[in-house]
Amino acid sequence: MSSIKIAEKFAEKFGTTPRLFFSPGRINLIGEHIDYNDGYVMPGATDKGIWFAVAPNATDTANFYSADLNEAYSTPLTTITPVEGWQNYLLGVIDQVQKRELTIQGFDCVFGGNVPIGAGMSSSAAVECGLLFALNEIFELQLQRTTMATMAQKAEHTFPGVKVGIMDMFASLMGKQNNVILLDCMTLDYRYLPLDLEEYSLVLINTKVKHSLATGEYNQRRQQCQEGFAKLQTLLPNVKSFRDIKPEEVEKHKAELGDVNYKRCLYVTQEIERTQKAAVLLEDNEQEAFGKLMFQTHEGLSQLYEVSCKELDFLVEQAKKHASIIGSRLMGGGFGGCTINLVHKKDWAEVAEKITTAYKQEFDIDAEVYEVATSDGTHEIVGG
Ligand code: GLA
Repeated sequence: MSSIKIAEKFAEKFGTTPRLFFSPGRINLIGEHIDYNDGYVMPGATDKGIWFAVAPNATDTANFYSADLNEAYSTPLTTITPVEGWQNYLLGVIDQVQKRELTIQGFDCVFGGNVPIGAGMSSSAAVECGLLFALNEIFELQLQRTTMATMAQKAEHTFPGVKVGIMDMFASLMGKQNNVILLDCMTLDYRYLPLDLEEYSLVLINTKVKHSLATGEYNQRRQQCQEGFAKLQTLLPNVKSFRDIKPEEVEKHKAELGDVNYKRCLYVTQEIERTQKAAVLLEDNEQEAFGKLMFQTHEGLSQLYEVSCKELDFLVEQAKKHASIIGSRLMGGGFGGCTINLVHKKDWAEVAEKITTAYKQEFDIDAEVYEVATSDGTHEIVGG
């Protein structure tokens, strides 16, 4: 898919001239499952994303066409309610706009992209942010990017019903080429960290095992952390957030927390510390030490947070066998999707080939490999 194909599809379906937008997926270097647990995260926008072609149609109907699925959907703007399926990511956005009593009219929209679905690169946030950004431009809603990020998050909570954190939407809207964002998910304070890895590259390996956050596992983790945190607050003085709790304190209260919530809280407190250390290491060009933290994150996600799967664990174990991979871990929500790997530039393609061959032998699946390139956040493509 490309912006040109989306524009052509629009011409074929609707015959008017649209405005074109690109909304990126995201990577995340470290800080996983802590955006909804008072943590810091380190995402960036990728060059893979979703293109939108949108034009007002002088009616009160929104007409959508998904170029990837070859499916159409129309709805009057006066009756926006959740349905089953991909439409929810779009309808949830319209609902958020209406909740703010902002005025939009009917429009036609064709969208499609190249961010792999279910790969942990947040195609869902790319869709939500892309539509919201386009509506903001076309109907001059005057929304700030950070406001749009929280609206898109709300849209995902209320329509698809996944209680996601803010990371994906923030990265999609606020990304900057050649940078990642160090985002404080409690305050939404952020700063850009230049992504200069010197002799290393970031490479994603897609297990091709599709994850679906809508399965309920994601919301369940969030619930377990809330319960664990509430318990810890009764046991420790002056605790306002997970940030005020040290992993050793969680260890001390294992019995009171119960096995599952203990593991979840231990992971969260460790990952909050790790991400803070990682930010310093990235700025100091300490790639090897940074990579070690990535391996530790994977271990925690697999053993304590229990959001990995055998295919992801296999890829990380394979990565450990190659000296030129200095860090590897599952990226995003988990249960499938991609690993993110910090690999020496000189032989990443060769090493990735070895790993995908071993993976094919083990699971009979052709894993896909992408070298990461970062991009700017959601934007209009001027001049088509
Ligand atoms: C998904 C969610 C994010 C975040 C990650 C895990 O991508 O949308 O908010 O919680 O999982 O870090």
